[in-house]
Amino acid sequence: MYSMIRPALFGLEAERAHDLTLGGLSRFAALAHRLYGARVPSAPTTLMGLTLPNPVGLAAGLDKNGAHVDGLAGLGFGFIEVGTVTPRAQPGNPKPRLFRLPEQRALLNRFGFNNQGAAALVGHLASSGYDGVLGINIGKNKVTPADKAVDDYTSALATVYDAAQYVTINVSSPNTAGLRDWQGEDALDGLLAAVVAERNRLAEARGRYVPLALKIAPDLDETGIDAIVARLRHHRIDGVIATNTTTARAGLPLAWRDQAGGVSGRPVRAASTRVIAALHARLGGEIPIVGVGGIMSGADAAAKIAAGATAVQIYTGLIYRGPALVGDCARAIRAMRGRVER
Ligand code: FNR
Repeated sequence: MYSMIRPALFGLEAERAHDLTLGGLSRFAALAHRLYGARVPSAPTTLMGLTLPNPVGLAAGLDKNGAHVDGLAGLGFGFIEVGTVTPRAQPGNPKPRLFRLPEQRALLNRFGFNNQGAAALVGHLASSGYDGVLGINIGKNKVTPADKAVDDYTSALATVYDAAQYVTINVSSPNTAGLRDWQGEDALDGLLAAVVAERNRLAEARGRYVPLALKIAPDLDETGIDAIVARLRHHRIDGVIATNTTTARAGLPLAWRDQAGGVSGRPVRAASTRVIAALHARLGGEIPIVGVGGIMSGADAAAKIAAGATAVQIYTGLIYRGPALVGDCARAIRAMRGRVER
């Protein structure tokens, strides 16, 4: 089915194709479920204390405003992450800001957290019928100065708390100036201390604990990973999502090397797996890892699990391979687990 639609979508400007597809999915959720979701095998997985029907999730950024969750659920994801959402609405960067690199099986995007704001996202979710595991990914507004950024994260957390099964702290998008500096040890320490304190306050007030995950970049060196692991442990963060898009340009055609943005898909696959393995070597299962970056096949998903991930997420693979990729990944992971258990 997707192989019939894809040429038409790839004939359109990338962001327009993206908007059209999401709109179409919402209208045809039941059909999507029959064609795709119903064919995803069951592979129950526990992640951050949550029970997933299968370990294949939707990565953040596809449904930034949480307005298409029912349609996306029809594709059979084991969990869905919406956002990144910021406390206040913002337009993001000027268009065009999403580009396909088909030969590289890659996308380059510089959206810059275009979103309708945390409250609007919660409103959309309230009218959804989805009862699966939903993560909400939060970030800071572009205009918020660095010395107020922590307040953006705590205020976004408070707004989305009741609607989330987990919340992801995004410090790894390359498209908001200075955002990735929050991955540095001292900055991260202050940020995590404040966000965890706010989560603990909300957990007490609401009588419901919502796990926190940190989403990190693929462009970290070993020292950077050491620092992050120390802070994750110290603040008892519940999960780590590795990774976001890359700022590296190796292997891309010359014309693309000077384009600002984050690259996803096949070019980020190895770097993402390297970060997962480095995290796993240090954490040894103490904090679960969600593996994301360049999963274009079931074998790629199984490789993330082999490197130490508990679950995976996909985005760019969905654009190139279509929704059948969800089932391919779940099957490959299930088969791999069967081999390990035998
Ligand atoms: C993203 N990604 C992303 N991540 C995030 O935490 N917040 C966001 O808002 C976005 N936005 C976004 C937009 C677009 C167009 C793309 C392609 C990606 C990153 C995404 O969730 C994922 O981490 C990376 O794309 C790597 O996975 P894939 O795409 O190679 O499977």
